Amino acid sequence: MKQFELMMFASVMGAVVLDEDTSEINPDDFDFFEHNNPDILDVNVSSLDKRVLEKYPNIKKLIIEKFYQFNEQLLKKCGDFDISTSWITKLKKGTRTVVHDHRNCFYSGLLYFSDYTDETSTLSLRNPLSQLEKFYIENEEDTPINFQEWAIQPQKNLLIFFPSYIMHKPNENTTDDIRYSLAFNFVPTGFYGGGDSSNNTSWYNK
Ligand SMILES: [Fe+2]
Repeated sequence: MKQFELMMFASVMGAVVLDEDTSEINPDDFDFFEHNNPDILDVNVSSLDKRVLEKYPNIKKLIIEKFYQFNEQLLKKCGDFDISTSWITKLKKGTRTVVHDHRNCFYSGLLYFSDYTDETSTLSLRNPLSQLEKFYIENEEDTPINFQEWAIQPQKNLLIFFPSYIMHKPNENTTDDIRYSLAFNFVPTGFYGGGDSSNNTSWYNK
C-alpha cells in the first residue's frame, strides 16, 4: 500500500518546559475578583491587573525570547512582536471558565508557573477546523492532526503558544489546590503586511 504524503493547513501551536527560574511570579502581588456563591461555576477568575508582566520584567523578557524562538523554529513569520496584556488566572475548587478566544491580539499563551499534580484540571483547546466541517463524524483515533479537542496537562514551567483565535478553556478544578496560570497576548509591532494590507505601529499616537 502506498503511503499518502500529508498535506495540511496547520494552526501552529508550540509547547516547551522552561529550565529557567520563574519563582518570582507571586499571585499575592495582585487582587482577584472574589465571590462566595457556590452556584456560580463560570466566573471571571483573572487578576484585576491585566498587565501583570510589567511587574516582572525578567519573566516578560524570557517569554518574549521564547516566542521569538518559537517563531524561528515553527511559525516562520516576519517582523517583531510584543506582549500587550497579561494576567494571572486563579481557579479555586469547583470553578472553571467558559470557552473563549482572545481578541485584539495575534498569538496568546500560558505559563504554568505554579505546582501541579496529575489531578490538576487540563486546558482544552478546540480544533478551529471543526467549525467549517458540515458533517459530524467521530474520530477512530485522536491525533495532533485530527483532534476535535486537545487537552493539555499543566506542569511546572510549561509554556505554550497558540493562535489567539483558538477557542479554549481550563476545565473545572476538582481538587483542593488552587490552580494558577499566567496568560498573555502577543501583538505584532513595527511594520508588517504589504501593499494595501500594510501596517506600521509607529504611524500612530505621535
Ligand atoms: Fe484564555
